[in-house]
Order: sequence, then structure tokens, then C-alpha cells
Amino acid sequence: MDRRNFLKAAPACLLFGCATVPAYRAETRAGKMILSEAELAPLFLKSTAVIAHSGAFSVVLLRDEAGAYRALEAECPHLGCQVRPGKKMITCPCHGSAFALDGQLLRGPAERSLRPYPLISRDGTLEIALYSQ
Ligand code: FES
Repeated sequence: MDRRNFLKAAPACLLFGCATVPAYRAETRAGKMILSEAELAPLFLKSTAVIAHSGAFSVVLLRDEAGAYRALEAECPHLGCQVRPGKKMITCPCHGSAFALDGQLLRGPAERSLRPYPLISRDGTLEIALYSQ
């Protein structure tokens, strides 16, 4: 395989590096993923993103410098691999799709952006509406 074909085939982790993203096990109530900001705080000391899991759902949870949260689908819209958030972009390790930190598609083969989930912060709890897309 020549260099050009290697770069086409190389997973995103080989090209951009893959940091370990902390995982958080959330509970689900009435179609919402429920997360404790107090439990998330130490995870966000290590990383700008957390992968939150609850049952069959996984969500990329990002926190910006101002402390605002954003929730995005964690399944790549190409073929469903779990995406990996990094400091500057979100990449898919399977075929190299890349997304901005707001979920906008930067590079295929995925053909659309990552969908955001509605998120409410209330009394130290984050509620992510899973079924309203
Ligand atoms: Fe993500 Fe193919 S599954 S790029």
C-alpha cells in the first residue's frame, strides 16, 4: 500500500490521535437521560468531553470554557460507529468522518452532521431529551 492509499484507509485515530474520553453511566427517566453535574465535574477536569451511556443510548456531552453543555449523538451517521470527541473536532475511528465540536460535518464519508439533543440544566442536574429528534 502506498502512502496515499494508507492515508485514505487509516483510521482517524492514526491520523489525529485518540485521547481517552471518560465514560459516565446515566439513568433514564421518562425518555430523558439524567446526569449529575457534581458527578460530571471531576470527569471534565480531565477532558472537554464525556461519553454518557444509558441503556442503548450513548451521547457525546461537551462542555465549553464558559461551562455550557452540548449533547450530540454519539453514533456516526455513516455506519454507526461510536465517534470520538477530541479537543478540536469529533472523529469517527471507522472510516475517518470528522465533525466540528458543534456537530457540523467537516469530512465524510458521513453525509450529515451529528444531531444535537435538547439539554436542560436544572438544580445541578442535566436532562437530555432522547426521543424528541
Ligand atoms: Fe463513521 Fe464510517 S462509521 S465514518
